[in-house]
Amino acid sequence: MSQAAFDDRVAAYAQSPTHREGPTLDLTRAFARAHPGDLVLDVSTGTGFTAHALAATPTLVVAADIAPNMLRHTRAAAPCEIRVVQTDTHTLAFADRTFDVVTCRHAFHHYQDGRTALGEMTRVVRPGGRVVITDTISPDDAHVAEAMHEIESLRDPSHVCNRYAGQILDLMADVGLSIERNTGTRTAQDFDGWCSRTGVSDDLRQQLWRAFTEDARVRAAFDARETGDGRRFNWPVLVAAGVRRT
Ligand SMILES: C[S@@+](CC[C@H](N)C(=O)[O-])C[C@H]1O[C@@H](n2cnc3c(N)ncnc32)[C@H](O)[C@@H]1O
Repeated sequence: MSQAAFDDRVAAYAQSPTHREGPTLDLTRAFARAHPGDLVLDVSTGTGFTAHALAATPTLVVAADIAPNMLRHTRAAAPCEIRVVQTDTHTLAFADRTFDVVTCRHAFHHYQDGRTALGEMTRVVRPGGRVVITDTISPDDAHVAEAMHEIESLRDPSHVCNRYAGQILDLMADVGLSIERNTGTRTAQDFDGWCSRTGVSDDLRQQLWRAFTEDARVRAAFDARETGDGRRFNWPVLVAAGVRRT
């Protein structure tokens, strides 16, 4: 999907509770283990929630994204001065071994080539530095994983694919990272807010809710249900930190 299409989503992402807070933000920050004075790169920063959280350490944060409107928002909303750079994660515009830490939260599923993107994150981190990947993953049940892929592709044309946790960990090892820590968590979603973020039609909204609820295995895997607070579900997420070996 084009950079312009991401540029149109600034307001939607900026208001998203899933991106603004929650366990995936806390775990990403904890796994990054950034120290005061570290130089940190947050790739695919979106509206900058991870970059802003890391800047509070206080570290020197560079926030990168392909979409310039995202970067404008990220800089304007930052709690302190941070640098923003427009660059594709597949071809990062930074020299080798520049950063102490690289983070990538809720973006890996947008990448056409996960190995190249991870290779780039590893190239720009120093030996002994850390790369943290946080993203939704495919559930182990292949039938449910296929349903997740169909649901996400229908809702969001920028979705490329979720990977299994093991695939992401293998990729990290292949590009030269030693896995330091990894854990699974869940990201809770308000179904209607999640649909609104990508502007789905009413018809598609109904189709998506049916896809979540008509199949008992899918419904149970994502805990899709109506509550007094609206329709809700959750996705599985991997948070993994790898240390660059050499
Ligand atoms: C869900 S948002 C990221 C959320 C953000 N990391 C956070 O923690 O709140 C996904 C972002 O990935 C960016 N993106 C998608 N493909 C990209 C690519 N190939 N290179 C860099 N950024 C990309 C989009 O522009 C969008 O801003």
